[in-house]
Amino acid sequence: MATTTRITVKASGTYDILLNKGSLSDIGQALKERFKPCSIAVLSDDKVFPLYGKTVTESLDKAGFTTVSHVIPNGEQSKTLDNVTSFISRMVDAQITRTDMVIALGGGVIGDMAGFAAAIYLRGIPYIQVPTTLLAAVDSSVGGKTAVDISAGKNLIGAFHQPALVYLDTDTLSTLDPQVMRDGFAEVIKYGIILDRKLFDTVAKTGSFDLKSVIARCIEIKRDVVEADEFDKGMRGLLNFGHTFGHAIEKLSGFTITHGSAVARGMIVAAKVARVYGFTDYTDVITKVVRDYGFETECPYSADQLYSVILSDKKRAGADITLVLPKSIGACTLEKMPATQVLELMKKAGL
Ligand code: NAD
Ligand code: GLY
Repeated sequence: MATTTRITVKASGTYDILLNKGSLSDIGQALKERFKPCSIAVLSDDKVFPLYGKTVTESLDKAGFTTVSHVIPNGEQSKTLDNVTSFISRMVDAQITRTDMVIALGGGVIGDMAGFAAAIYLRGIPYIQVPTTLLAAVDSSVGGKTAVDISAGKNLIGAFHQPALVYLDTDTLSTLDPQVMRDGFAEVIKYGIILDRKLFDTVAKTGSFDLKSVIARCIEIKRDVVEADEFDKGMRGLLNFGHTFGHAIEKLSGFTITHGSAVARGMIVAAKVARVYGFTDYTDVITKVVRDYGFETECPYSADQLYSVILSDKKRAGADITLVLPKSIGACTLEKMPATQVLELMKKAGL
């Protein structure tokens, strides 16, 4: 096994992110070194659990933990209050107490749900993130945002609840569908554009970098942002680069365009808007990297169509919208403006 990289987050809870390659079967030992023996409720999905459930639960059992597993169908449609309730019922049946823990074994859907269940069960118990998608590794497993979807929209019910540990084995990413892996790269590219030119240059050279180091750098950036603005009142908004337009694209497509693909196109829209806003034009630079990762680069929707969805975005503050715009690669800014100006800028940018 390679050397473990440890990144510590100091937020309302202080916790480590342990990053390694081939370390999943050692999870029990890693937890034993940090936590007292207890019961652990593992939440996973029906794609991930058959691949990694046995390795995780056997390792935990061997280290003296008692496990109970709850497996739900994979996919965003499972991120519901009903599924949180059934997971909690399972925890009640297993007599999980405040001194016990939850493990999220899966991608962002499982991480968000398990985190939310842990936030509300008995008014909060500890949980551990074991991310198995690239998106979950670089983004959703870190920072304590937990949520479920309701019919009115995605992530509308949730809580901030920092994990007690994030345990990542990058080997688990080897079984991802290529499209799910690629979607994760949209977030990696995003980190480079918002805060780290060197990271951007590294990932722009597709296929010629060490994935574990790139993931570690993304996690460090997320750590820095979360430590500076845990409760999303200011600079954490930078993580939404490409997402305001991306969410609109995703929604207008009836979710046939995947999240990563929509964010990738959303970053290009943001670059176009930045140009007409008066910033240096990085449209070609961003379009090239997006294309090189195999994403479509054209936004299939008009300014008016995008605007109608953006107006209903939960992140809107009153009549204003805050856009994340690239001033240069590695330096994005938050630009608050009247909603109508966003429409004007998109039209001026040719959308
Ligand atoms: P996901 O959890 O649905 O995983 C995508 C697919 O990959 C699923 O079918 C899953 O079963 C499968 N999968 C996962 N790991 C696998 C593996 N190792 N091998 C084979 N298949 C595997 O989706 P995601 O993209 O990981 O996460 C998206 C979710 O994350 C959304 O709900 C989004 O709202 C949330 N999110 C949360 C935050 C946050 O800060 N909390 C940030 C970004 C996104
Ligand atoms: N992925 C957005 C956030 O963590 O704030």
